[in-house]
Amino acid sequence: MRKPIIAGNWKCHLTLQEASALIAGLKDSCDTDAVEVVVCPPFTALATAAQSLKGSRIRLGAQDVFWEPHGAFTGEISPTMLVDVGCRYVVVGHSERRTHFGESDQSVQRKLLAALKYALVPIVCIGETLAERDANLTFNVLTRQLEGALGTLSTDEVRRLILAYEPVWAIGTGRNASPGQAQEAHAFIRKWLATRWGLEAGDAVRIQYGGSVNAANAAGLLQQPDVDGALVGGASLSAEAFAAIVRAAVEAPSKAITR
Ligand code: 13P
Repeated sequence: MRKPIIAGNWKCHLTLQEASALIAGLKDSCDTDAVEVVVCPPFTALATAAQSLKGSRIRLGAQDVFWEPHGAFTGEISPTMLVDVGCRYVVVGHSERRTHFGESDQSVQRKLLAALKYALVPIVCIGETLAERDANLTFNVLTRQLEGALGTLSTDEVRRLILAYEPVWAIGTGRNASPGQAQEAHAFIRKWLATRWGLEAGDAVRIQYGGSVNAANAAGLLQQPDVDGALVGGASLSAEAFAAIVRAAVEAPSKAITR
């Protein structure tokens, strides 16, 4: 079985007080064994969030990571620092970092390898822009991003990561991919993994969908056989909305590994 994973990417939001209040709400509504629940606050709130999460099954992740463990890299946060503060996950290669901060497939690969080296679970984001989808380039873009980020990994390393399919046109726009569009992309990604590392590895890797997931559309997306969870932006800032998405994952049919 692939255990569903719902992660909240808080992006550049929330003060310490707001973060603690949100986590208090999540502890009341999202503390479950049936789904892996992760919150990814901004760096400034990680220590507070780690404290607030004590005694719950909700896990902590960061939104980015640098690839060196320490050194003269002003402004960067290392994988060892993330582990030290209590993170177990880290988002890598989010489209906002690719678009606004020059992240490339190559830097995504370095960050991903560093995360794996220091025992963080990387949530690797990939996805096409609207222009690329309209030009029928979705699968080409996904292949390039997968190849660029994952190309050199061993089977064991691939099995430890999580992929997030986040079509850029669906992020923060209120226009989510339809369940059929998400399933089509996820099935393509899984097949690419299986071709590269074998059917077993392809079946084992969890693939989240991200892009305007909310309480109303989560169930339809999570019912798709290759959609193993969600990476949630805006709706993760509301305990009520995020809890509804977690519930939809609890209620979705289990993702049996078929082979
Ligand atoms: P929204 O859910 O706000 O569209 O953001 C998705 C996202 O970018 C999660 O990483």
